[in-house]
Amino acid sequence: MDKKLIFSGIQPTGTFTLGNYIGAVRNWGPLQDEYNCIYCVVDLHAITVKQEPAKLRKNTLDAYALLMACGIDTEKSILFIQSHVKTHAELNWILGCSTQFGELSRMTQFKDKSKRHADDVNSGLFTYPVLMAADILAYNADLVPVGVDQKQHLELARNIAQRFNQRYGELFTVPEPYIAEIGAKVMSLQEPTKKMSKSDENPNACILILDDKDTIIRKFKRAVTDSEAEVCYREGKDGINNLMTIYSSVTGKSFDEITSEFAGKGYGDFKLAVGETVADHLAPIRNEFDRLIQDKAYLKKCYTEGAEKAQRYSQRIVSKAFHKVGFVDKA
Ligand code: TRP
Repeated sequence: MDKKLIFSGIQPTGTFTLGNYIGAVRNWGPLQDEYNCIYCVVDLHAITVKQEPAKLRKNTLDAYALLMACGIDTEKSILFIQSHVKTHAELNWILGCSTQFGELSRMTQFKDKSKRHADDVNSGLFTYPVLMAADILAYNADLVPVGVDQKQHLELARNIAQRFNQRYGELFTVPEPYIAEIGAKVMSLQEPTKKMSKSDENPNACILILDDKDTIIRKFKRAVTDSEAEVCYREGKDGINNLMTIYSSVTGKSFDEITSEFAGKGYGDFKLAVGETVADHLAPIRNEFDRLIQDKAYLKKCYTEGAEKAQRYSQRIVSKAFHKVGFVDKA
């Protein structure tokens, strides 16, 4: 049987957080053997909020190199930059005409973001999920690894696909969410009921995967815990639960194993162990990133070839969509 196709995109926000890594990107590499994978750095999506052009360009290249450093193999998978492949914007328009204003108004991410960026509630921010649907449907992807925050968008992509198919005849695969077996939600080190986020004002709240060893250890040492002294996973122990989740996902140890490992030891020992383990785990990624980002010619070769493959792949499907809606075929 043919392998199923996975599609996912990631925002070029510079370096990824430990949360992006554990919750998403780390799982993308191993999927390459079991599935056909297409991964994309979504610079078109990025400009729905204000960006400094030079910084966006740098962040996009960094994200591309970082994905490679995290194990995405451009020989096995298609890895490309969204703005290099014109079918995304083209299909976005078509799908926008099959998406209702009311549906987009219900998107919680739009509601949140329009509050946070009240001075720039542009129409791209509003139609963001349509472009995301176009990303996925242009390849007829079967599976989309997404975190909880993107589930509503994926649900909308499914609705758009079904609606288009009903109206114009079968074309799009209705994508399923891919829920990773591993991969957990990583919380802020300072307010462990909040998701770890790069935009957190407190720099100690967030580990960046390019942070150096000392920085990582320092941030973990300052992580908020609780007034008990027991390393165990229990409701109400948000800080410790988060550290255990991180430690478990990096070492593969179960919560019970971690509890026994630190029995009789204090939180200080545990935090140091988590910090050192995470830093050691990320060191090869940082080294590989440093190597790649200096080799601009090689990076360019990779993203150019990636875009060519993505363009060829998606063009077949998007041309069919053009035909189905009634556009005159180009010779
Ligand atoms: N919206 C996603 C995010 O912010 C990124 C994204 C864009 C995406 N297009 C996609 C994810 C297609 C999966 C599939 O995380």
